[in-house]
Amino acid sequence: MYYARRLSIWPTLPLNVHFRQISNWQPFPLNVEGCRVYSRARHAIWNACRTLGLGNDDVVLVPDYHHGCEIEALLQAGVKIRYYEVTELLEPDPQKLDDMLTPDVKVLYLIHYLGFPQDAFRWRQWCDERGLLLFEDAAQAFLAEIDNRPVGTFGHAGVFCLYKTYGIPDGGAVVTNIPPALPKSKYPSGRWGVLKRHVNWIAERSAVIGSIHLYVKPMMKKLKKKSHNPHKEFDLGDPFTLASSLTMRLLPRLVDQSTARRRRENYKFLLEHHRHLVPRPFQTLPEGASPFAFPVEVDDADEVLKKLRRYGVEGLLFWRNAHPSLPVDDFPNSKAFRNRVFAVPVHQELTASELMQVTEALHRATTKQLNPITP
Ligand SMILES: Cc1ncc(COP(=O)(O)O)c(C=O)c1O
Repeated sequence: MYYARRLSIWPTLPLNVHFRQISNWQPFPLNVEGCRVYSRARHAIWNACRTLGLGNDDVVLVPDYHHGCEIEALLQAGVKIRYYEVTELLEPDPQKLDDMLTPDVKVLYLIHYLGFPQDAFRWRQWCDERGLLLFEDAAQAFLAEIDNRPVGTFGHAGVFCLYKTYGIPDGGAVVTNIPPALPKSKYPSGRWGVLKRHVNWIAERSAVIGSIHLYVKPMMKKLKKKSHNPHKEFDLGDPFTLASSLTMRLLPRLVDQSTARRRRENYKFLLEHHRHLVPRPFQTLPEGASPFAFPVEVDDADEVLKKLRRYGVEGLLFWRNAHPSLPVDDFPNSKAFRNRVFAVPVHQELTASELMQVTEALHRATTKQLNPITP
């Protein structure tokens, strides 16, 4: 049997984190007094809609390329949505946006994809000129900056997924001009989530545990799939759920000023070897990006992902299902992205040899070579 360390896009949780010192550095938005940290970013979005005073008569312009849970959170918050088509570079098209404006449009919703900042300054100006609010979705872009200014500071609201950057069980932060009232709900413990992330950390370092993990996980997934509803992942849940107490305890021990730089270095390394596989919007790494993952575009994503698993790399075909309110066939660009683009890890804890494992696995999975590589 061939053993491989299991490498996934999700950051893991080092075992020693419980004994680490609290960092002196607090990144945006955690350093803002009015910042609220809910369990998930979707809760943050729902609460932001309320503090922005949005209601039934208000329309939010949302991109066709999205996760789906952010759309559900907006709808549950009571607003109406209108889809705009992103360009081939995954940006809004100002002309098309202008054509969609009616007096009930109140917000432009902007997603910073994969930690690559959109031109938020320009979109803020665009909104100001039209009396609209700018909502920055930085779920994948915690720690990203534009000219040394954090993403999420340009809009009237900014939301972030903290657990996409650090191996904590949950955490969706929000900053708005008027902070949401502090919910009275209790903090969930987060023990189970911490345990899972510790196991992932071990699986990333031990080929034996990694292989067991890689073998067991698809079986669990198959079992779950029996009652699979592709839209379940969009559920809002209780929007007042706060981040777990373990997230709040461990996050200050994990944040590190070098995180975004290390993610960029890992991304650059993969880019040097696999630029030809990267979709156009992500072929140039901006200075202030904090890449969430490394995107790869292929014709047969499911097949390539299967091959990658043999080499211990668990890629993620993200956003395959759009929110059910999107008429998918009317938006061919985002449809192609959903079917053709998956992501592999670049997170800050990857060692040089793990990064090598990712790059070799990618090479072998996208060419005809199928021999095992030496871990
Ligand atoms: C762009 C975007 N916005 C919002 C969210 C919501 O994040 P959460 O799952 O923490 O609610 C996600 C989740 O992946 C996302 O990708």
